[in-house]
Amino acid sequence: MKSRERGYKNRSHEDADLGKCSAENQRGRAASCRELFHLLFGKRSKLQQSLAMWLYVAALLGLYFLFRRYREQQILGNLIEKYVFITGCDSGFGNLLARKLDARGIRVLAACLTQQGAEKLKEATSERLQTTLLDVTQTESVARAAKWAKGIVGDKGLWGLVNNAGVSVPTAPNEWLTKEDFKKIIDINLLGVVDVTIHMLPLIRRAKGRIVNVASVMGRISLFGGGYCPSKYGVEAFSDSLRLELDAFGVKVCIIEPGYFRTAITNEKLLSDNFQSLWKQVPEETKKAYGEPYLNHMLDSTIKMQKDCNPNLSLVTDCMEHALTSVYPRTRYSAGWDAKLFFLPMSYMPTWLPHWIVTRTYPKPAQSF
Ligand SMILES: *[C@@H]1O[C@H](CO)[C@@H](O)[C@H](O)[C@H]1NC(C)=O
Repeated sequence: MKSRERGYKNRSHEDADLGKCSAENQRGRAASCRELFHLLFGKRSKLQQSLAMWLYVAALLGLYFLFRRYREQQILGNLIEKYVFITGCDSGFGNLLARKLDARGIRVLAACLTQQGAEKLKEATSERLQTTLLDVTQTESVARAAKWAKGIVGDKGLWGLVNNAGVSVPTAPNEWLTKEDFKKIIDINLLGVVDVTIHMLPLIRRAKGRIVNVASVMGRISLFGGGYCPSKYGVEAFSDSLRLELDAFGVKVCIIEPGYFRTAITNEKLLSDNFQSLWKQVPEETKKAYGEPYLNHMLDSTIKMQKDCNPNLSLVTDCMEHALTSVYPRTRYSAGWDAKLFFLPMSYMPTWLPHWIVTRTYPKPAQSF
């Protein structure tokens, strides 16, 4: 305080007008300090008391967020000695994460579904990064990849497993689908995660590492038919029980919940083709109940949805990176403003509210009452 006063005095020597101004400011500030002090500690009216209470709450919240920010900025050392295995590196989040971790010096074991995807990734990265082919629906393929990873990481173990591989089709109103359609998605998005995790667990336990599972904000609120939402709810459930069990081994389990991002999952052509080919298999009676206009509306909103998707995949891979490299990772990460500001809050609301909002935007079936 002393030095600041001296500062004011010096300046008033240089400029009399300014000096007057700052003297007034200072008096004003002293008065408001007195008021604040009075509000917090003096005799107060009812209104002042509640104001003071809110000030305390705001100050505590501020402190909490500062503390959390500080805590979350602690990053692990010796990242360059760590191995991270990522599934689904052909495109999208997995591909970007592999390149980003590789650039940070981490030893990436990238699993791709296709040879072409693996070759492209290798061209874009350092010689540290190694690729393997993996189809998460085939247990032999998973076992082979686990053996491959074990051969590379040896006694060090595996620091990170990122279960990222996933698909979004077949998706349509539930009645348009068969059990097989549901199985296809669940086999990749949920059972794939389970199988890869089980095979990799011994390696992760050895490193007291991290498992990062990519769910979706559709694992918190279910807004369209087909196996996608159930598969993501399943990933949430699997991850939560896994976290309970692995705590004893010092292994952490994190869940990433992205909103709508522009990846193969939300690809317009893929989704349109999916609707059109499913429509062909729909029984006549169901077709009559829904009608062509319903299908056309779905196709139109697919184009709109694709336009609204966030193209900045870094928002998601930043969460994955934090889960893998920070000293104190979060349990859940939601990525994207749509997830943070709409879907996640909606998931906590009474069901009728998201239901009411979403049905405003969905088409009406031909035979709706
Ligand atoms: C994408 O998001 C990251 C934050 O994760 C930000 O630093 C970057 O500027 C964004 N890029 C664009 C093009 O908005």
